[in-house]
Amino acid sequence: MVVIAGRRISPQNLGAEYKRFTVTPYAGALGAVIEGVDLSQDLDEEMIAEIRRALIENLVIFFRGQDMTPEQHLAFARKFGTLNQHDQVKGMDDYPDIIEVRQEPTDTRNFGGAWHGDVTYLPEPPLGSILYAKEVPPVGGDTLWSNLYLAYEDLSPGYRAMIDPLTVIHTPAIIYGEKSMDWSKDSSVKSAPTKAAHYEVEHPLVRTHPESGRKLFYVSGAYTPRFKDQTEEESGPIIDYVMYQATREPFTCRWRWQAGDVAFWDNRACLHYALNDYYGHRRIMHRVTINGERPVP
Ligand code: SIN
Repeated sequence: MVVIAGRRISPQNLGAEYKRFTVTPYAGALGAVIEGVDLSQDLDEEMIAEIRRALIENLVIFFRGQDMTPEQHLAFARKFGTLNQHDQVKGMDDYPDIIEVRQEPTDTRNFGGAWHGDVTYLPEPPLGSILYAKEVPPVGGDTLWSNLYLAYEDLSPGYRAMIDPLTVIHTPAIIYGEKSMDWSKDSSVKSAPTKAAHYEVEHPLVRTHPESGRKLFYVSGAYTPRFKDQTEEESGPIIDYVMYQATREPFTCRWRWQAGDVAFWDNRACLHYALNDYYGHRRIMHRVTINGERPVP
């Protein structure tokens, strides 16, 4: 391994070992741009295996200048697993497995505007999401990702030993439950507060990634209000510190979108944040999410 700006990166990240396309690291902490792949095509197994490896090594991979139909977007995602239909947010009428993340010029709230992982409150949370930019504002609307391996590994051994055995409660209740904001009139989310969001799932705070074998945090903003067998007040200081650590600037990257860009992130290894700084402009993205597995310590 060599160290580049704090990132543990193997020589193949630098492009030497990818046979089918080039992989160029994008930021010090995470992210890579892949060139030489047309995602609208029926990609063969070798190509998919290399894309998967690039995803695991870089946590979020970017493809520029893509031109995909919804069917091609879904077909690409299915190469990595079964698809996840969001349990609280309605998909597109003709494509229930695609969420249209739509922000109209007069909308004031946005979808994904806080650090989180996608639907981490499911018993088997997603492997990843593939976000395709259809229409973007002239400036603003960037998305940020953070590297949860680096955030965890940067902690002192004493702090890691203290948090390693903890179990976190994940729940959609704060965002989609009865006391949440009413999103039903928003352009993208269209979900009204519901009792159905009042369920809880337990996951280890520190999980071992099923493909890399490395340990990392598994926290997720408002989806993770407390530890098992503790109150929110008791859990708050550690949860807040872990979220602060998980999203510190040196562990992040920030992508400025162009229409046709695609970002594919490993939802088990990073958090993301959609900036809401483009009032007066439209932004339309299509998101497809791929099912994952139950987290293990
Ligand atoms: C999300 O999936 O949280 C939305 C990300 C974005 O729109 O940039």
